[in-house]
Amino acid sequence: MSTVADLGFEHVFHPAATPGGPTLVLLHGTGADEHDLIGLGQLLAPGAALLSPRGKVNEHGANRWFRRLREGVFDVDDVIDRSGELVEFVEAATVAYGIDPAGRVAVGFSNGANIAAATLLLHPGVFGAAALFAAAAPLQDREPRQVDLSGTRVFMGAGVADPITTIDQARLLAEQLRQRSADVRLREHPGGHALPAAVLDEARQWLGETAA
Ligand code: MLT
Repeated sequence: MSTVADLGFEHVFHPAATPGGPTLVLLHGTGADEHDLIGLGQLLAPGAALLSPRGKVNEHGANRWFRRLREGVFDVDDVIDRSGELVEFVEAATVAYGIDPAGRVAVGFSNGANIAAATLLLHPGVFGAAALFAAAAPLQDREPRQVDLSGTRVFMGAGVADPITTIDQARLLAEQLRQRSADVRLREHPGGHALPAAVLDEARQWLGETAA
């Protein structure tokens, strides 16, 4: 494991145990940090390279990826700016660590899934695939532009009883991605704002198909 602070974001990078696989870009939820999703990455893709930055927005001491006005109401201009900043980091890390750009897979939970979704919609080509858990439509009432996401695979895990990210938000995001030709698997589960084991198991299998 190495830790480098000079690529714009505090982060950790775990090289692949075996070369040639995907690199998971792990994007944590509100209040977590760059260490939080390492175990999830290892579960989803054992032996894969892991790149895990820390969100730079500080909300009363909680790390986030973009500002919000209150729960569920995002500062969409900040979403757009911060997504661009994240892309700059991912590109810099790709060079610094010798990552294959074609193998970059975003894995995000909650606020991290939201910045990943924004990056898919705003910067097509940065991620070839994404696993999004408890994700909302990140641009809210703004219609994303008509980018071409054909060839981009997206797994979404969404709780029908999620009180923070409503299932309608997840369905709207899935629809926005599909309208732009992404290959989306939306896995709805009966739970809330969580990562149920059965959903993670499906995501692991999905990722195996993606990497194959
Ligand atoms: C967000 O702010 O991105 C979502 O409401 C999820 C959260 O971080 O609480």
